[in-house]
Amino acid sequence: MIGSANLSAWFPEWASTHAPDVDVPFFDIYVVSACALVVTVGLAVVFLRTYRRQDGDPDRMPAQGNNKLLLGVWVLAAVSLGVYAFQLGLAGYVAQDVAPYGATEIGVTAREGRWDFTYPDGTVTDTLRVEVGQPVHLTLTTADVAQNLSIPAMRVQQPILPGRTTEAWFETIAVGSFPIHSGTFSALTQDSLATAVISLSTADYDAWVAAVGDIFAGRTMAEVGELLYNQQGCKACHSLDGATVVGPSFKNVYGFEFLTTSGETITADDAYIKESILTPNVSVIDGFQPVMTPYAGKLDDREIEAIIEFLKTLSERGHAAGQEGK
Ligand code: HEC
Repeated sequence: MIGSANLSAWFPEWASTHAPDVDVPFFDIYVVSACALVVTVGLAVVFLRTYRRQDGDPDRMPAQGNNKLLLGVWVLAAVSLGVYAFQLGLAGYVAQDVAPYGATEIGVTAREGRWDFTYPDGTVTDTLRVEVGQPVHLTLTTADVAQNLSIPAMRVQQPILPGRTTEAWFETIAVGSFPIHSGTFSALTQDSLATAVISLSTADYDAWVAAVGDIFAGRTMAEVGELLYNQQGCKACHSLDGATVVGPSFKNVYGFEFLTTSGETITADDAYIKESILTPNVSVIDGFQPVMTPYAGKLDDREIEAIIEFLKTLSERGHAAGQEGK
């Protein structure tokens, strides 16, 4: 703890549990090194004065032999300084290396221009939001060149290398906003990769998670439908522009008639579309393979309603049919 109280003004405030593990050894080693410097240089000056050649001294002083005791003390002192520094840093080093069990898993992707922080529920943000007192475990990858995640207030500094996944973790001890930098000095990334850790109280964090987790917040039903189309994999098999991919295009599906493989003609109304999404293989559209994965249990009624609203916006019959349905 030597000196840490007044010297920590050099470093950003302590915002994570790592901070004391980094600063305390740093300042302790700093103070001890400064003392060692004063002692060594001081002794050198004293010895220079004391043992300089005086008038009348012979050209060569007779050899004195080694003082084994002094030599031993010197070697021991030097080694113990090294051991002292090592043991000071060891605990913090080990603690920084292993994320605690139960830490929130957040994926970090660096690219020239921005950071993507991916939360367990799939939410992606450009600032890193964390809950105070709850450890977060970061899994870092880069989409292009080598980067460096640097969060000074958390005492986190972690290189991110192309083709490799690196890790870091921290636990905030204070609420507030703390800068994140790209520790890599490059004209391209220096400014654009500046963002922040936003450390929130448990109540604020929970409220934020609920708000971003609710895909319906701030979106119309059709917009939610479009989001689900992109998120749920529909996009892979259904185009929006009339092109047949694996399944029929979503253009002009709603309200249109289709022939099924069993020879029936169906109308793609709300009920049929709902059935098609939940149990697609019960009634298969003619000319297609029954390869669509059932979404029963994956999408709830409100989400399916949103997809139907989205399909209406893509259909010439969507508007009229939508009016009737209301
Ligand atoms: C693996 C590819 C695949 C995925 C993913 C997929 N579908 Fe399909 N879908 C198909 C195929 C093939 C058909 C036609 C055969 C059938 O009716 O099962 C189809 C048919 C449909 C139909 C009936 C179309 C019509 O012309 O009446 C609807 C509605 C539909 N899918 C909605 C969805 C939605 C919504 C999603 C995403 C939540 C989705 N599909 C994901 C392959 C897929």
